[in-house]
Amino acid sequence: MDTINFTRGVPANESFPLAEVTDAAVAAMAARGPSMLQYGPAAGFQPLREWLAQWQGVAVDRVLTGNGSLQIIEFLCLGLLKPGDVVFTEAPTYDRTIGMLRRHGMQVAGVPLEADGPDIGALEAALARQAPKAFYVIPDFQNPSGATCSAAKRRRLAALAERHDFLLIEDAPYRPLRYRGSEEPTIYSLAPERTLFMCSFTKLIAPGVRTGFMVGRPDLIAKLAKVAEDTYISPGYLAQGIVDQWCRRGLLGPQIERLKQLYLPRLDACLGALDTYMPGSVTIRPDGGFFISIALPEGASTSAVRAQAATRGLNLSDGLAFFPQGGGERFLRLPFCALTPAEIDEGVRRLADSVAAVRA
Ligand SMILES: Cc1ncc(COP(=O)(O)O)c(C=O)c1O
Repeated sequence: MDTINFTRGVPANESFPLAEVTDAAVAAMAARGPSMLQYGPAAGFQPLREWLAQWQGVAVDRVLTGNGSLQIIEFLCLGLLKPGDVVFTEAPTYDRTIGMLRRHGMQVAGVPLEADGPDIGALEAALARQAPKAFYVIPDFQNPSGATCSAAKRRRLAALAERHDFLLIEDAPYRPLRYRGSEEPTIYSLAPERTLFMCSFTKLIAPGVRTGFMVGRPDLIAKLAKVAEDTYISPGYLAQGIVDQWCRRGLLGPQIERLKQLYLPRLDACLGALDTYMPGSVTIRPDGGFFISIALPEGASTSAVRAQAATRGLNLSDGLAFFPQGGGERFLRLPFCALTPAEIDEGVRRLADSVAAVRA
């Protein structure tokens, strides 16, 4: 078998609804061509904002769209935060968000993550020292750990944000990708005035549509829309028109079902292979999303295992970048969605061999 890449958290090429996107593009051009090709309000293509507002059960002035959700995080850094502000994140968290916050001069402080969400005791201790401007959390099938925050902890986060007056940034691109079990409430639903909820079509349709969105308080959304306008005048309306048409055709529900059918066997293949070749290594067993993470055994650093793995045709990511303040020396993220079950099994077998070689 060729080289196996357990590195990037990307969707599977075979998940892309090519024919549907093509049809939606043709239909969108016929129905709304001129408005898709013209400049327009920076908050996004109005029909899509309206569709999203209805889907999310909020007023349309609570919806901001953008070219992917990562750029909305950048607008947040520019519009609602200022250099020197303290922002808490889970530790580990999405490495690109750490990079983005730092690029804008924020002080990033990590709150240890447990299998059921942030360590609330550690959060309370940190809050006693200093309240942050915002806490960035990925409560559903977290990138990189795979953890999902329990309902009880979501309530605690909402209460603590109220008591200590900070914003909650709820980044939830994997939330619709639950392969089994039942949903937890969004943090937004528990604290709608101080939570900014984000989701994206990049994991539901394809990264190529570069369409993400945020739901939040209208005054905050308006501030971010102003930053967006000063950045790019308006987001990619052509893509938003296609997404709008695709959603209005009722294709989101069936696509999510297809993604579940494609990805659940991959999740199970990964959990099964880890149980077989590296028993006891999995402490967080996700029910959805793109990622499983493990802690490598004592004496096996991720960097040493990576080097061994490279000689066996296996590419792995380092763990360090996911931790804002150190740690992660033995952390390993395994994105399973873009590999077939057979590749996953072979990849985990090579991983176990690499770990054994490092420890020998
Ligand atoms: C937690 C998280 N947030 C944001 C993003 C970026 O999403 P988008 O492609 O919508 O910018 C990703 C992509 O991997 C992610 O994992």
